[in-house]
Amino acid sequence: MKNTQLFLTGITTIALLTGGCSDLKDTLPPVAENTGVHPAGWLTKTSADFHGNAIRNQGWDMRPCRTCHGSSYTGGTSMVSCRTCHTEVLGPEHCNVCHGSASNSAPPRDLSGNTDKSFRGVGQHQVHVMGTARTAPVGCSTCHVLPAGDIYDPNHIDANPGQAEVNMTGLAAKRTAGATPVPVYYTQSTACGNTYCHGQFKNGNGDNPMFWVGGAALSGACGSCHGDVSRPTLAERALPKTAAQGGTHPNNLNCANCHGDVVNASLQFVDPSKHVNGYLNVFGQVREF
Ligand code: HEC
Ligand code: HEC
Ligand code: HEC
Ligand code: HEC
Ligand code: HEC
Ligand code: HEC
Repeated sequence: MKNTQLFLTGITTIALLTGGCSDLKDTLPPVAENTGVHPAGWLTKTSADFHGNAIRNQGWDMRPCRTCHGSSYTGGTSMVSCRTCHTEVLGPEHCNVCHGSASNSAPPRDLSGNTDKSFRGVGQHQVHVMGTARTAPVGCSTCHVLPAGDIYDPNHIDANPGQAEVNMTGLAAKRTAGATPVPVYYTQSTACGNTYCHGQFKNGNGDNPMFWVGGAALSGACGSCHGDVSRPTLAERALPKTAAQGGTHPNNLNCANCHGDVVNASLQFVDPSKHVNGYLNVFGQVREF
């Protein structure tokens, strides 16, 4: 009786091992024999049963996985560690596992796997978080409340995980003399308005909406945040409101003479980290304005 049982168990194990291997051929290497806990396509990225899809379909909740894979995903009773493949510090909870890429955790890719800027999940993320040749990088917390403690902070993955919350603070709401921005993001149109960054500051162009997706031609053009895009030269376009427009900026086009820390005489940016950083750089000094 005992011998028969052992013999049968042996056969079953061999069958499962073989089945497991052939099922997973041409996909990711199996890290343990298939005990039937998970469906066949669990490690196949293109399968509807891929474990990433299963997690998405349960509202991105990986806490049930911890029951068997351990509280830190190092194996637990299943003896299969998620960290064999998800090697970054936070394992499968690392900030770029569900959104973002190797460069940063902002999309692309977005939560649906999209990488094109025409998807609202992707939009203008990279130009903001990476900065450009003429602007300082903008951190996530300027536009979002970051998860505190762990990823299951209710501010992060909430009851509607298909919709990210945009909540602009910090630089976006920076006050200057006579201008108090009240930043707002319109989810439907993807318009972003009333921000410090795009012109709601002293002598700037405060009434200038930007679009996260399908941006109007204005977006990012010199003169869109301060000055007048319709003027012929770069300096004329960038010149903030002078007395003639009801402002206080000196009517002087030699920007580099006074803002030499930021631009040179050909209006190339010598230090983009000082542009759109919330402070005025003038006469070699850093100033509130
Ligand atoms: C054998 C390797 C392997 C193991 C083990 C593994 N994963 Fe993954 N996982 C992957 C791969 C590959 C991807 C897809 C990455 C990509 O799309 O670039 C992925 C994707 C994910 C995603 C992202 C889903 C998405 O669509 O954005 C989550 C979340 C995840 N895994 C959680 C886990 C958890 C939790 C465990 C352990 C319980 C685990 N993984 C174990 C290989 C593995
Ligand atoms: C009831 C316990 C249990 C739960 C819950 C569980 N797993 Fe597993 N998992 C296992 C066992 C046991 C194995 C090893 C044997 C196997 O592959 O069937 C495993 C293997 C895996 C593997 C490796 C697959 C392979 O064939 O190499 C991945 C990836 C994985 N689990 C991801 C997850 C994810 C993601 C979750 C949560 C959505 C999860 N598991 C929930 C028990 C569990
Ligand atoms: C300039 C503002 C801004 C910054 C900076 C920013 N985001 Fe976003 N984020 C947005 C907007 C706008 C959306 C789109 C909201 C919508 O309409 O669904 C969004 C959406 C998202 C989404 C949801 C994607 C999806 O599939 O729907 C994630 C995830 C996200 N952001 C993460 C980040 C992370 C991580 C960072 C920092 C590394 C970051 N964002 C920086 C404005 C920003
Ligand atoms: C398990 C998948 C997953 C992981 C891991 C993850 N996120 Fe997210 N993240 C989401 C989802 C889903 C959303 C959008 C859902 C929502 O707003 O309810 C989101 C949205 C965001 C947003 C946009 C604002 C918001 O909450 O809507 C930011 C910023 C963000 N995540 C940062 C992070 C950071 C930082 C980490 C690492 C500590 C991280 N995420 C790890 C799934 C994940
Ligand atoms: C003669 C010195 C001088 C020159 C030349 C100059 N600026 Fe300024 N700039 C200032 C001063 C002073 C302020 C602070 C003015 C204020 O807040 O009333 C300032 C402020 C600014 C601001 C913040 C908004 C504001 O008006 O406070 C911007 C933007 C700016 N300058 C851009 C430019 C550009 C672009 C040029 C070239 C077309 C330029 N400046 C040329 C002295 C100068
Ligand atoms: C995305 C909006 C935006 C665009 C586009 C933009 N600026 Fe600015 N610029 C600002 C803001 C905001 C300030 C206020 C000071 C700060 O935060 O750096 C500023 C300040 C300046 C200053 C004053 C020095 C400083 O940073 O304190 C100069 C010079 C300047 N901009 C030149 C230009 C030129 C030239 C262009 C076009 C090639 C341009 N800007 C396009 C937003 C913009």
